Amino acid sequence: MRGRLRPRREVRLTTVRPEASGDAEAIRGVHTASFPTPAEARLVDLLRNARHLTVSLVAELGGRVIGHVAFSPVTVATGAGGVGLAPVAVVEEYRRRGIAACLIEAGLATCRDAQFGWVVVLGDPAYYSRFGFRPAAELGLTDECGGGSAFQAMELIPNRMPIGAGLVRYAQAFASLGSQ
Ligand SMILES: CC(C)(COP(=O)(O)OP(=O)(O)OC[C@H]1O[C@@H](n2cnc3c(N)ncnc32)[C@H](O)[C@@H]1OP(=O)(O)O)[C@@H](O)C(=O)NCCC(=O)NCCS
Repeated sequence: MRGRLRPRREVRLTTVRPEASGDAEAIRGVHTASFPTPAEARLVDLLRNARHLTVSLVAELGGRVIGHVAFSPVTVATGAGGVGLAPVAVVEEYRRRGIAACLIEAGLATCRDAQFGWVVVLGDPAYYSRFGFRPAAELGLTDECGGGSAFQAMELIPNRMPIGAGLVRYAQAFASLGSQ
């Protein structure tokens, strides 16, 4: 299905690059416009301030930041550190063109290059399964907010998935999501 989609001109002209100094306000704008509350925009600011934005990529078109994805550290009791994908957003007028997919693919590759062995995400399995995510419960991993089948995981480097390690903890900044 996806193979039959033809990238639109805007997508071909869109650049995915690491967040640079001076992007913070534009990134805030992308999340504020994309989510019902400013919680995700605030989360990114908190992660940045805590130096927990492990990977932060923007999609830029014509000098405008139109999308953003963040990855931050996650831990399990065994100590094996991975990354969590969150949040990701693309401004409404540029959705359904594969821009989030470009951001996510580039982010996963960057995390792998940085030697992070595994990644988790809380989101729609119908979307994230295309990147290789599978239900984290099948791997013996759980999340802090009862995400059920929406909590998914993927190995980035062979044999680095902490199978059966139980609870996956996100960075402290994620506690702010529950206090809005
Ligand atoms: C979720 C979100 C980031 C997706 O961004 P996006 O750039 O539209 O994502 P993609 O284009 O990669 O994929 C979205 C859909 O467009 C489809 N698509 C991709 N390229 C396409 C193309 N050229 N033509 C038509 N459809 C296309 C994908 O197949 C997918 O559809 P499906 O899920 O029904 O299969 C965006 O909708 C958003 O910002 N939502 C609000 C914030 C949010 O909920 N974030 C996720 C939780 S953190």
